[in-house]
Amino acid sequence: MTHDAGVTSALRDWVAPDIGMDGPNYRALIREALKFKQGYPDRAREVLLGRAIYFLFFNPSLRTRSSFVTGLSKMGGLPIVLDPDGIYTPALPGDEMPYATERISDVARVLSEFGDAIGIRMYGEPAKWVYGHAHRCIEAFAKWSGIPVINMECDRFHPCQALADVMTLTEKLGSLNARRLCISWAYSGSWHKPVAVPQSLLLAAAKCGMDITVSHPRGFELDAGVASTAGAFAKESGATLRFVNDFREGINGAEVVYAKSWCSLTCLPKHLGSPVNEARMTDLFEQHRDWCVTDEVMALAAPEAGYMHCLPADRGQEVSDGVLDGPRSWVFAQAGNRLHAQNAIMTKLLNPMCLS
Ligand code: CP
Repeated sequence: MTHDAGVTSALRDWVAPDIGMDGPNYRALIREALKFKQGYPDRAREVLLGRAIYFLFFNPSLRTRSSFVTGLSKMGGLPIVLDPDGIYTPALPGDEMPYATERISDVARVLSEFGDAIGIRMYGEPAKWVYGHAHRCIEAFAKWSGIPVINMECDRFHPCQALADVMTLTEKLGSLNARRLCISWAYSGSWHKPVAVPQSLLLAAAKCGMDITVSHPRGFELDAGVASTAGAFAKESGATLRFVNDFREGINGAEVVYAKSWCSLTCLPKHLGSPVNEARMTDLFEQHRDWCVTDEVMALAAPEAGYMHCLPADRGQEVSDGVLDGPRSWVFAQAGNRLHAQNAIMTKLLNPMCLS
């Protein structure tokens, strides 16, 4: 089975729901996630009794790992976190090394013999920073597995994060129609964060009808194809999109400031084996050290505006301690919602009869 942008209500995988799931179905899933939270833990109990999911993390994780393991365990399932160093590295044709890698088509079919779903996190170094390569690996898993595949963050999308984000926005703001969201780039001392979070959030917010401003310095443009897809979703939902290159202009009047760092796609290699242009990347970052969300910056936003970040945050670089720990910070409610959003996702994939 292949999985493309046409997959909507019969979604079998959670690889690229950001582009493959239409607005009405996506908004229905947000409501399901909220119901999971309101009824927790009773709503979740035994919903996935006996289901086994393999979780493969090629990058570090605190929230995604712990929320999936906790959520599936509370639903009566069996989470199995595979150590990437303890298996043969899954690889696409052309990237294989004898007795060190195993073709993804083989790994996917073997795990499909044992379990009920596969979750994968892969971006950055494990995919040699070639933009789109990690996503292609996850797509290959989905193509060859007989069981659902969940994208736990690749180099293009972080759909589980985005669902928790719009769930949090709904709790804080009610209807999201025409509510003012600023998705902003922020400075970090590391360039190694992918564009997955802002891209998935952009698509999710566009499906929810928000008034969206994406703000970043020149050189940090998001994937043009993703921006174009967001525009298509905006037409359906009534969302508005605007792109600016001025930090303060983007935040001015926003009801939500979602500011985090991401790498410059212009500095990433096009092909495996080519290097990242680290000198240019670092130079681009260092020119914009002032893109840090402080109390003074938040004062430009709407009076009751909230601050969001997927975490981990680089304190003193992306955001000040005062904002992150202050009354305008929604980040811990946001992190907590990962559990409920993913419970809804796993149930949609493995036991959809249990959704209302
Ligand atoms: N936001 C997020 O995905 O956190 P982790 O990297 O800790 O999983």
